[in-house]
Amino acid sequence: MNFKQHENFVIQGPIIHSLSSNEIGYYENATIVVKKGKIVSFDSEGKIKVSANDGHVIKLINGQFLCPGLIDLHIHAPQYPNIGLGMDMPLLDWLKAYTFPLEVKYGDLEFASKVYRYVVKSTLSCGTTMAVYYGSMHCGSTIKLAEIISELGQRAIVGKAAMNRNIPIDNYTEETTQCLEHTQKVADCVKNLKNPLVETAVTPRFAITCDMPLLQSLAKMAVDQDLYIQTHISENKTEVEVVKELYPECIDYTDVYDKAGILTNKTILAHGIYLSDRELDVLKERGTCIAHCPNSNTYLQSGLCDVRKLWNHGVKVGLGTDVSGGCNASIVDAMRCALATSTHLSFQIEGYKPLNFQEVFYLATLGGATALGMENKIGSFAVGKDFDALVVDMMPLGGTAGVMLEHTLKEHVQKFIYCGETKNVKQVFVEGKLVHSK
Ligand code: GUN
Ligand code: ZN
Repeated sequence: MNFKQHENFVIQGPIIHSLSSNEIGYYENATIVVKKGKIVSFDSEGKIKVSANDGHVIKLINGQFLCPGLIDLHIHAPQYPNIGLGMDMPLLDWLKAYTFPLEVKYGDLEFASKVYRYVVKSTLSCGTTMAVYYGSMHCGSTIKLAEIISELGQRAIVGKAAMNRNIPIDNYTEETTQCLEHTQKVADCVKNLKNPLVETAVTPRFAITCDMPLLQSLAKMAVDQDLYIQTHISENKTEVEVVKELYPECIDYTDVYDKAGILTNKTILAHGIYLSDRELDVLKERGTCIAHCPNSNTYLQSGLCDVRKLWNHGVKVGLGTDVSGGCNASIVDAMRCALATSTHLSFQIEGYKPLNFQEVFYLATLGGATALGMENKIGSFAVGKDFDALVVDMMPLGGTAGVMLEHTLKEHVQKFIYCGETKNVKQVFVEGKLVHSK
C-alpha cells in the first residue's frame, strides 16, 4: 500500500499524545480518521463507525502504538558527517578544529546533495517529522537542502548560516551585503518551492561571528517578512565571556540580541544554559523559545540547562539534537538526555524535582510545536491538526532474552522513551503522507 496516494485513511489501535506538559493521554483502542492529511476525528474509545468512504483502515497490532511526530528544534545538517567527532574539546576549539573545516566543503553542491539526502532520510527514520535545520554559509547548498526536504516530505524550517567575522579558517565568511543578499535568496527560493511544510529561518550563527549591523539587518528582514529566526545563545562559559568583550555596551548576551531586534515570538535560541533571571524574563516578554540540546550540552561539556527554571520563567522550550555538537540525531535520545541532565541537576540543587518521562515526551512533541507557535497544527492528535505521526513498534524490544512479556500501553511508552531506537520507528507520516517505513 502506497499511502502517498492514500491520504484518506483510518488508523485504529493504541494511541497516545500529550494532554499537558506533564500528562500523557493513553488510549488502548482509539480511532483517528485522516482526510487530506488532516485529523477529522479522534475517537478515544473505539466507538466510531468507520465507513467505506473513510478509506483504508490501518490496524495497529500488539506491541505497536501511534504517537505524534517528533520535533527537533535544532540540528546542523552539514555537520552530520562529523557526528561523534571532537567531543573532547570545548565549543570554540571544536568549532575551529572540526566544524568550520567540514562546513566550508558545502560550497560543493554535489557533496552537499549527497550528505543532505542522507541526513533527511536519517532524521525521518528516527521519527523526526519536523526539524529546524541550520545549513552551512552557502546559499546554493542550503537551497538544495530545502529542495531535498521538500522532496522527501519532511516538515522543516531551514536557514543559511550568516556570519561576517571571527571565523578562524579561510574562505568561510561573507561580507555583510553578500550575506544579506544570500539570506534573502534562500528565503525567496524556499518560498518558491510552494510547499507550506518548508519554511526559511534567518540564521545569524551566533553573536561572536556576527557584528551588530548584520544582526540588525537580519532581524529587520525577518520581521518585515514574518520569518523565523534561529541562533545560539549562552551555550558555553568562554563563549559568554567573548560575547561580553565584543559587545561591552550590552548588559548581557540576551541584550545583544534584544538590541539587534533578534528576539521575536518566531525566534529559536539553541542552548541557553547560562541565562540569568533578567535574561529569561526578557525572553518570556518577547515570546522567544529555547531549543534544549542536552546531548550536545553534555558531550561538548558545555553545561546543564535547567528546563524547570526556563518553564518557571514562562519561557517556551522544546528539544534539539544539535548534531554534531550532539552525537545522536534522534529526538528519542534527546528525551533520554533531558532526563539525565535534570537528574544531574537534582544532585546539585536541594529539593529539585527532575523531569519525568511525561515531561520530556511533551518537550519532544507538543512543547516543541508550542515553541514554534505551531501548536494548532502539529504536536498532538487534536481534531483539525495535520496528521504528523509515528507508528512505534515495541516488539523488537519486547523479547529480551527470548521472553515475551505482556506490557501495558504506558509501559510500552516508558520503554520507548528509556530504551527506544530507530528500529522501533516503523512508519512515519507527515501531513498524512507516509514518508518513512520499514
Ligand atoms: N555556536 C555557533 N555555532 C555553533 C555550532 O555549529 N554548534 C554549536 N553547538 N554551537 C554553535
Ligand atoms: Zn547548534
